[in-house]
Amino acid sequence: MQIAACSLRLFPWATPVVQAFRFLWTKLLVQCASETKGDHARMRFGISYHENVNNWATKGLIDAMKAKGHDVKPFRLLDVAAEIPHGFVHLEEDLTLDGAIVRTIGFGTGNQITYRISLLEHLEDAGIYVMNPAYSFRRAKDKYATLTALHKAGIRVPRTHVSENLEAATAFSEEVGDVIIKPLIGARGMGMIRAENQELTYRALKFIHQLGQVLYVQEMIEKPDRDIRAFVIDNQLVAAMYRNVPKGEWRSNIHGGAEAEAVELDDEYTECAIKTAEVLKLDYTGVDILESKDGPCVIEANASPSWSALSRVTNLDIAGMIVDLLVKKSKGT
Ligand SMILES: Nc1ncnc2c1ncn2[C@@H]1O[C@H](COP(=O)(O)OP(=O)(O)O)[C@@H](O)[C@H]1O
Ligand SMILES: [Mg+2]
Repeated sequence: MQIAACSLRLFPWATPVVQAFRFLWTKLLVQCASETKGDHARMRFGISYHENVNNWATKGLIDAMKAKGHDVKPFRLLDVAAEIPHGFVHLEEDLTLDGAIVRTIGFGTGNQITYRISLLEHLEDAGIYVMNPAYSFRRAKDKYATLTALHKAGIRVPRTHVSENLEAATAFSEEVGDVIIKPLIGARGMGMIRAENQELTYRALKFIHQLGQVLYVQEMIEKPDRDIRAFVIDNQLVAAMYRNVPKGEWRSNIHGGAEAEAVELDDEYTECAIKTAEVLKLDYTGVDILESKDGPCVIEANASPSWSALSRVTNLDIAGMIVDLLVKKSKGT
């Protein structure tokens, strides 16, 4: 400091040069500080996959994380080990993460699934932001738990019977008439049965019961030949689409051949979608809504939805929005 003051007295022409140097130096320090602490801080995110790391949505999220300047560590829950009291370790690599997106916990026995959910809770407990949060993810995967929570919050859902009792499930289907039997945990419309008459419904229920599966029987809602997929991120409706039922089908899953068509939802349907995400505490979700004659009726909220059809008909950068939310949540803001 003293040397600088003395030099300036001897060489007064140097003052503007020193000032310019000071200005640039301060600017550099501020920039470095904001790169380590601010919006552009490089973070390390995990993304859980099971069999296929090249799954369309998983890959889209990985690309979006990288494009935003973050490090990405795709991992399988199978390759993580927990140790009490030390915490958890990846069996091959460093698993220090700021946050993680759970795309899937894979298939498995009751034991394996219970363990993997506990593992997600353990990651949360260790300070890693898990998206969707472990409990929300688990509840949204279970159609029964989902409908219970939604109904309690005043959201319309179909009449549904759930049990491990063949007689009770049969009595429900006889009373309701047109029913659908669904897997408790399922996706893409797979494994669902809509039998033509009571005899066939009974046989289907009996078969499922013999396999040791839970009986999940739901009234068929009268509606147009389509349903609505509403995509909600951070409790905001981002976009929605009709999924038009293909010929000879009654399900409107995109993987079953349904056609996507962008739609602007009115206030009632928008509120229903947002409230569903809020009640289930899902950071991002694809809500399936039926247009019943009484208004919006929710059948499920997907905890790891895809958006390939939605981005095709809306041109939105949905992966980018999900990653932005992960950054925000991981910073605790
Ligand atoms: N209760 C219902 N009434 C009428 N259609 C239904 C009903 N439940 C499901 N569907 C049709 O079946 C499709 C798949 O059902 P859903 O419960 O979303 O299961 P998945 O998890 O397999 O997508 C829905 O998108 C809808 O078209
Ligand atoms: Mg669905």
